[in-house]
Amino acid sequence: MTATSVQLQHEIKDISLAPLGRKRIEWAGREMPVLRQIRDRFAQERPFEGIRLVACCHVTTETAHLAIALKAGGADALLIASNPLSTQDDVAASLVADHGIPVFAIKGEDNETYHRHVEIALDHKPNIIIDDGSDVVATLIANRQNQLADLIGTTEETTTGIVRLKAMFKDGVLTFPAMNVNDADTKHFFDNRYGTGQSTLDGIIRATNILLAGKTVVVAGYGWCGKGTALRARGMGANVIVTEIDPIRAIEAVMDGFRVMPMAEAAPQGDLFITVTGNKHVIRSEHFDVMKDGAMVCNSGHFDIEIDLKSLGAKATEIRDARNFTQEYRLQSGKSIVVLGEGRLINLAAAEGHPSAVMDMSFANQALACEYLVKNQGKLEPGLHSIPTEVDKEIARLKLTAMGIAVDTLTNEQVEYINSWKSGT
Ligand code: ADE
Repeated sequence: MTATSVQLQHEIKDISLAPLGRKRIEWAGREMPVLRQIRDRFAQERPFEGIRLVACCHVTTETAHLAIALKAGGADALLIASNPLSTQDDVAASLVADHGIPVFAIKGEDNETYHRHVEIALDHKPNIIIDDGSDVVATLIANRQNQLADLIGTTEETTTGIVRLKAMFKDGVLTFPAMNVNDADTKHFFDNRYGTGQSTLDGIIRATNILLAGKTVVVAGYGWCGKGTALRARGMGANVIVTEIDPIRAIEAVMDGFRVMPMAEAAPQGDLFITVTGNKHVIRSEHFDVMKDGAMVCNSGHFDIEIDLKSLGAKATEIRDARNFTQEYRLQSGKSIVVLGEGRLINLAAAEGHPSAVMDMSFANQALACEYLVKNQGKLEPGLHSIPTEVDKEIARLKLTAMGIAVDTLTNEQVEYINSWKSGT
């Protein structure tokens, strides 16, 4: 549905879903005390007055709280989906109907619609872009050089997006400041690890209803997302195999108690495969050939490129929907391989993404990174910028306080000791 008035421009599934979205957004807010405090301060201080802001995020109950906080701070904010399959249509409806935020996102939108929404977002002529995977920034650089003068800076949520921004910087095309939200401690230690760990298994279970205990689960990639996924799969009783290309991470996985081997060796052993590498064709033709009958494959990395579905499709005689987000590929060989969530982020396709409690910290970083960009407009060098340590620590402090947990403080004697090199053995 597209409305014509500028204020209520949107392209969402169904505005009548708004009451459900409103209730679910409200529910998520119970677990987001840090962002709530930031929103309340923004409402007083209005740091984004006159700022046009585009957020390209998964349209979830948690993102709703980020968008509401930015709007409370005075931003002229517009929201698009960062993935064709992650939008919660009721949330999109509530943001439009209850909060007057323009949203362009429909769960299941095709790639053409997804890219059209990116163009619509850029038509908003953003001063700030919150990106999740770097598609908006990449499109801006590729097609809209004339808009760079409007841009104060961008923020990036994901490991994948940071890898892309580094490549842009290397190519000399990142000519503006980009805040590296992903690498803040209060982001990746929690969101990437515990968020991905829990929500990935949640998505797999919602899609399939399988028992994980006793299954052999192959986790491809042992970055923060892989660590969380492997940890939680083991917690559910699975026998976990990790595959890696980085020797240090591989040793880490071994010493964390996992079996480590190349995908070619893991392929015939796995019952369930989860890719979280950020790279392309991690599971491909030669792996499908040796998998067990009924093996399941899914992805929790940012893009849907980790599983080579084209090569699987070429081997298939039939593809049928077995359940929601669960497709069975019957192969010429007689066996079948099951693909979950079309190889897109399974945690957001079949479940609701990371729980609110971790997104509270991730989006606190996003909100404060946007404020930092505005406060330091014209002063920051082009390229990637870390979230300042004081901001990171303040988010952790606020989170602990909200959890009712206190920590120790150094005594004067300890401060003196830690700052001195004189006292040794
Ligand atoms: N990325 C992962 N989980 C998410 C969530 N719940 N909301 C927004 N972005 C996410």
